[in-house]
Amino acid sequence: MLYTWKVRILKWQCANLLWRYWRAWRGDDVGNYHRLPEYIRRYAPGRSFVDIGCMWGVNGDYAFMAEEAGATMVKGVDVFGPTPEFEAKKQARNSAVEFILGDASHPATIAHVGIADVVLCAGVLYHHPSPFDLLVALRQMCGQTLILRTSTIPEIKGLPNAAIYFPMLKPHDRQLWNLKSLGVSQQVGITDGFEPQKGYGNWFWGLTPSCLASLLETAGFRVDYRAPEAFAQTFICSAVKVPFVHRLPDEIEACSIGEAVSSAGIARPA
Ligand SMILES: C[S@@+](CC[C@H](N)C(=O)[O-])C[C@H]1O[C@@H](n2cnc3c(N)ncnc32)[C@H](O)[C@@H]1O
Repeated sequence: MLYTWKVRILKWQCANLLWRYWRAWRGDDVGNYHRLPEYIRRYAPGRSFVDIGCMWGVNGDYAFMAEEAGATMVKGVDVFGPTPEFEAKKQARNSAVEFILGDASHPATIAHVGIADVVLCAGVLYHHPSPFDLLVALRQMCGQTLILRTSTIPEIKGLPNAAIYFPMLKPHDRQLWNLKSLGVSQQVGITDGFEPQKGYGNWFWGLTPSCLASLLETAGFRVDYRAPEAFAQTFICSAVKVPFVHRLPDEIEACSIGEAVSSAGIARPA
């Protein structure tokens, strides 16, 4: 109850602004979508770079920006495109940016991208039904640094690592997550409910920042920097050793694990 009021209040423009001042006063480096170029110019020079979700509304701008900043090789991935605007910019700049049509969480796309020193992924994670799988895919493509910006929900006091699954929420419950008052015009899956035919266009998950940080860590990233916003986070992360593995045994080993489990009598229906 208190939490829903917190969310409602943070959706008021003036309260949201006050929140930003308060967090800055506390010493946080408060985030903003328009800061993405700052991060790109900081990390791209001299490194290979890939922008995951490079097309909608930006037509490859962040990939071209990385190239201009001195990235050694630049790729952009998306599930649609390239748009005519992308092609025009590429030609006008005599750019070597490579567009890859593919789902970032698909093994074929991961293989096509290979390993890039810097991975940018902005505005994509909450559009994926399995955010952990997407983070694992980003980790496989990432040699050094991940710049991740994504929509989030405010932290729930006393319930760290919480998240909200948006599809199938009742209209009244969806209303809480509608960010129209903050200038977000259309949220597929929230504004008018889940639209299966729109695929990744839907908003799937509202992760709290703590949940996002834990997912990142589990996927093999160390969070080095955070720029919080009330309804979004920018995390800059280093690729580290992947801590979570489930190795599938071969058939012989699998049978011997089966025998050991049975003889120990430890597997009981939950
Ligand atoms: C909200 S837009 C963000 C565009 C841009 N990165 C930005 O921050 O302004 C999300 C983009 O990611 C793309 N996208 C969504 N899911 C994807 C996936 N699984 N693999 C690759 N691209 C994806 C969409 O097509 C769209 O171009």
